[in-house]
Amino acid sequence: MRHFVIVGILIVAVTALLILGLNAAHLMPVEASLQADEIDGMWKLQEVAMSFLFALIAVPIAYSLVVFRRQQGDTTDAQHIEGNTRLEIAWSIIPLIAVVVFSVLGAGNLANTIRPSAGAMVVKVNAFQWGWTFNYPDYGFTTNEMYVPVNKAIDLKMESSDVIHSFWVPEFRVKQDLVPGRVTELRITPILAGHYKVRCAELCGTGHYKMEQPVVVVDDTAFAAWVAERIKEFETASQTPEGHGQLLVQNNVCGACHSITGAAGIGPTWRGLYQSEVELEDGTTVVADESYLIESIKTPKAKIVKGFPPTMPVFPFTDEEIADIVAYIKTLK
Ligand code: CUA
Repeated sequence: MRHFVIVGILIVAVTALLILGLNAAHLMPVEASLQADEIDGMWKLQEVAMSFLFALIAVPIAYSLVVFRRQQGDTTDAQHIEGNTRLEIAWSIIPLIAVVVFSVLGAGNLANTIRPSAGAMVVKVNAFQWGWTFNYPDYGFTTNEMYVPVNKAIDLKMESSDVIHSFWVPEFRVKQDLVPGRVTELRITPILAGHYKVRCAELCGTGHYKMEQPVVVVDDTAFAAWVAERIKEFETASQTPEGHGQLLVQNNVCGACHSITGAAGIGPTWRGLYQSEVELEDGTTVVADESYLIESIKTPKAKIVKGFPPTMPVFPFTDEEIADIVAYIKTLK
């Protein structure tokens, strides 16, 4: 009996130490959304359960190794023990209850995390190999960084142009895949202003590591100022076709694959592209004139340039926008 009391006390002590240690290790980044609060609550319960289970197993083993080790000169066999029905029932029922409790809590947690909020602001997210664009239907523009106001429910409606990607901002905790042919949703209510990053959490090809873009949570005033700035930027850029083209290129992250410096990227560089002779995968050559550039934007897989993967997605540009992008590419001599 004395041994049980000592082991019991040690288990409680080791559990407490493990919980303190895990808390002190700060395993999680800051909680920047309402959802993070929910999810971390679950995580903390898991930490308690894990710490207790670890102590429950490790402490009796360590205690037995030390206290019940073989005495010098003792060559007798150990006592033979045959089953223990009460113990076996206990270690079946208790974990069963624990698993059921965790699944009920987890289901409630999930329901809270994905519940729609009235008056949420919609942001349309598009993922492609390899970048993100953020479209604000309320304001009519697309950008390469996601700004959202603090304490406002955000409803992300997400689509992929090619393969499966996954939207993940660790500070928001929630994560959701983007699946080609489907619109998936993710609900976030940011509660902490700051600069974060969305990163793709699904291996999506050689450029997967590049799928990191800014996510910025600001107060209402700063958000309104940012929106006004985007609209002004559009108005200024739209004074010339090539200016508008350049802004479109920037906001749609074309630079993730196409350099304007002459350096090769995932796709061909645009520097000196216009009117140059391009060697294609099938061995033929073509002059990069206006119709070639338009075709390559509209149907990227029509002509594949030699040495580059056929991964360019189709972007939802209008004919006018494509003409402006071509006008911009023409300036990159
Ligand atoms: Cu997209 Cu990984």
